[in-house]
Amino acid sequence: MENPTSTKDNTGSQSTGLAFQDVVRRRKSCRGFLPTAVPGEIITSVLEDAQQAPSNCNTQPWNTHIVSGDKLRELSAALLKELEAGNFTPDFTFDNDHFYGTYSDRQKAQGKAYYEGMGVARGDRESRRAVEALNWKFYNAPHAAFLFMPSFGDHVRVASDMGMYAQTFLLSLTDHGLAGIPQTGLGFFAETTRKVLNVSDEFKLLFGISFGFADPDAPGNSIQMGRDPISKNVTFHG
Ligand SMILES: Cc1cc2nc3c(=O)[nH]c(=O)nc-3n(C[C@H](O)[C@H](O)[C@H](O)COP(=O)(O)O)c2cc1C
Repeated sequence: MENPTSTKDNTGSQSTGLAFQDVVRRRKSCRGFLPTAVPGEIITSVLEDAQQAPSNCNTQPWNTHIVSGDKLRELSAALLKELEAGNFTPDFTFDNDHFYGTYSDRQKAQGKAYYEGMGVARGDRESRRAVEALNWKFYNAPHAAFLFMPSFGDHVRVASDMGMYAQTFLLSLTDHGLAGIPQTGLGFFAETTRKVLNVSDEFKLLFGISFGFADPDAPGNSIQMGRDPISKNVTFHG
């Protein structure tokens, strides 16, 4: 990772000044963080970048809760308790069995890279569960952003706006010398999360992003996912 001390230029930005393509290519999901807290002005700068994301009719549906310190520890304990009890209350479904064909192949390849990277031997269910539980320990991150959204129609358009926001947030983290990971798992216990963060039922929890300074020595940060060539996903016409 970059040196965590970002430079402040004369536009007031906290950017490291990386070229756009470097930011895009350096961003990767971080699964091991240092305990060092991120200065508040840098978190604000990242949030202000994310705020520039486009959205349907400029509705800006993201309702972001940044959780740190004792509150993050309280939330982690509450979520791990629900995990232990198997008390899942997601606002939106998620099921690996819904993937098919190429998508299922990619999901399986990701799962293999994930457990291998985390040092879990095939068939070691106990280690597997312990590694999965790291999701609700925020991979040791000192901060997490919870992305709540209002409930409109079938939710698809709102969720696409949230994705735009989340990726801008993630790229901004990289640009600030930070790292993050989007986690569907952080939406698995929506009721408890709303209760701990005092969020109204009006808002649905899509996912969360753990963030902070990457720990270069964490096993989870050895995982490097590739991408198919654009020829697999893009069709040119005309
Ligand atoms: C919306 C979303 C949810 C995700 N949820 C999780 C999660 O719950 N736990 C996790 O470890 N990784 C999660 N990931 C990370 C993906 O596994 C990762 O983005 C993918 O493997 C590509 O790797 P990269 O982000 O390092 O490029 C999620 C990614 C996205 C975009």
